[in-house]
Parts: sequence; C-alpha cells; structure tokens
Amino acid sequence: MTTTTTSTTYTWSPKAYSQHASFVPQLGTPILEALAPKPGERIMDIGCGDGILTERIRLSGAIVVANDASPDMIHQAKENFPDSADTYSVLDGHDLHSSEWGTATDKFDAVFSNAALHWMKKSPAQVVRGIRAVLKSNHQGRFVAEFGGFLNIASVHAALINGLNKRGFDGRAVSPWYFPSPAEYKLLLEENGFTDVTATLVGRPTVLSEAGLKGWLDTFGMAFMDVLGSDEEREELKNEIVEQLRPVLCDSQGVWTLDYWRLRVEAWTH
Ligand SMILES: C[S@@+](CC[C@H](N)C(=O)[O-])C[C@H]1O[C@@H](n2cnc3c(N)ncnc32)[C@H](O)[C@@H]1O
Repeated sequence: MTTTTTSTTYTWSPKAYSQHASFVPQLGTPILEALAPKPGERIMDIGCGDGILTERIRLSGAIVVANDASPDMIHQAKENFPDSADTYSVLDGHDLHSSEWGTATDKFDAVFSNAALHWMKKSPAQVVRGIRAVLKSNHQGRFVAEFGGFLNIASVHAALINGLNKRGFDGRAVSPWYFPSPAEYKLLLEENGFTDVTATLVGRPTVLSEAGLKGWLDTFGMAFMDVLGSDEEREELKNEIVEQLRPVLCDSQGVWTLDYWRLRVEAWTH
C-alpha cells in the first residue's frame, strides 16, 4: 500500500464552488441567525470562502475580519465585494494564535465559521486554541459555527476511501475531512478554554446542483483526486463512484441528494 498522508496542497476552484456549491452559503442562514451579529461587534469569519456569508455579517453593521487558506477564494471574495476588499486575507485556520489578531489586545466578540472547520484536519485542537486566543475572555466572547459532523456524507466518503484503497493508497489518510461527534467536539472545546458549550448534530439531506455527484466531486473531491497520476485515472474514479452511488442517492428524476450531517456549535469563553 502506498502511504500517503493528508495533503493540504490541493486547490479550491472559486468557479466550481459558485457553480456547484451555491447551496453552501444559502444553507448558512440558521447558523447566521444563531450568531445574531450586532452593529459595532468585532467578528472573525474563519474559512470565509468567496465571502457570500461574510458580507451578510458585515451588512448587520458588525466589523468583520475574514480569512481563508485559499488565495484563490480570497481573491474571489475581494472581487465579489470590492468595497470591503480589506476585510479579507489569506490565513490558515491552524495559525490564528500566531496571527496579528492572536497577539493583539483588542479581541473579538465572536468567531464564526460555516462549512469550513471539517477541512482543518491537521490539528483541530490547534484550531480551537487559536479561536480561543482571538476572542474576548470572561464570557464576553462567543464561538458560533456549523460544519460537517459525524456521519456527514458517509456514503460518498466511504466510496472515496475505498476507491483509493483498492488503487493501493491509504484512503483514510488521504481524506482531508474531520467529522467529529457532538461529544468529541464539546470535550475539545471544554479542554481549550470554552464553557456553556452546545454541539448538536443536524441531519440535512442536500439536493445537488444539476451537475449531480460528478459536479460535487469536481468541487470537493480534489484531495482524493490529486493523489492519482493522470486525468484518465481521476475520471475513472469519479465515474466509478457516481455509478456505485446512483442507486441510493439519485432519484427517478435524476436528482442527486447527499446525506449531509452538520454539527452546530455555540460556546462561550471562560
Ligand atoms: C465549503 S467552503 C465554505 C466557505 C464559506 N464559509 C461559505 O459558507 O460559503 C470551505 C472553505 O474552507 C477553506 N479552508 C479549507 N481548509 C482551510 C484551512 N486549513 N484554513 C482556512 N480555511 C480553510 C477553503 O479554502 C474553503 O474556502
């Protein structure tokens, strides 16, 4: 078996994201409502992507700082919202504690994140410690996030892992995703400076764009595809997964639905 560790070298495509994943920010309304941003509050958005939800936070009157590890997504966010381009910067979620905000004295009222924390698999504890470092202390800082939780997209995740395993790779190690259970994530937060934690798993079957599972794999499956040596091998794996899952995830009208499970989290600082 070829040993392959998780790679963070894969790139995000803003074009594919806006074509096949516009449902991601659209379905962010419940967690935005849980954030309930107030005018004048300082709020950080982690893994902000192309800025669609960030802008909604900004329009509430909050002062927003948004960051993302992908230079292409940050470029797209600045292009989408040129009037607030200085809101956005490139930063890996693992590096918050050592960033200018991690060391500054004017801390944030809230840290927000939608659909991004499950991509930060290298060290979830380091991400949580960084979030704590940028927030105000003594119950004045809140962390409000939604991301992929335990059971998320189990069918397609298993198919991707097995598809790589049978090609001689360690599919589990290649997977870029961290999908914790509510109990696991609550403990992680409590061990790293948070209190009054709620972490709830919400089942959210999600209808895919017209491009179906193939478009979804093109947008989100890049870490698995990148370990393969050629475009032919990548196409073969995608087609194999599409046909394997068609009987269970595609209805008689040709509409694909994925088995999303989201972890909704709210916590306060000690
Ligand atoms: C599914 S998108 C969500 C974007 C946005 N929050 C939204 O709701 O539309 C996930 C984002 O997480 C970002 N991301 C992945 N790994 C990251 C990391 N280690 N640090 C910061 N951002 C990361 C990706 O670049 C991508 O823009």
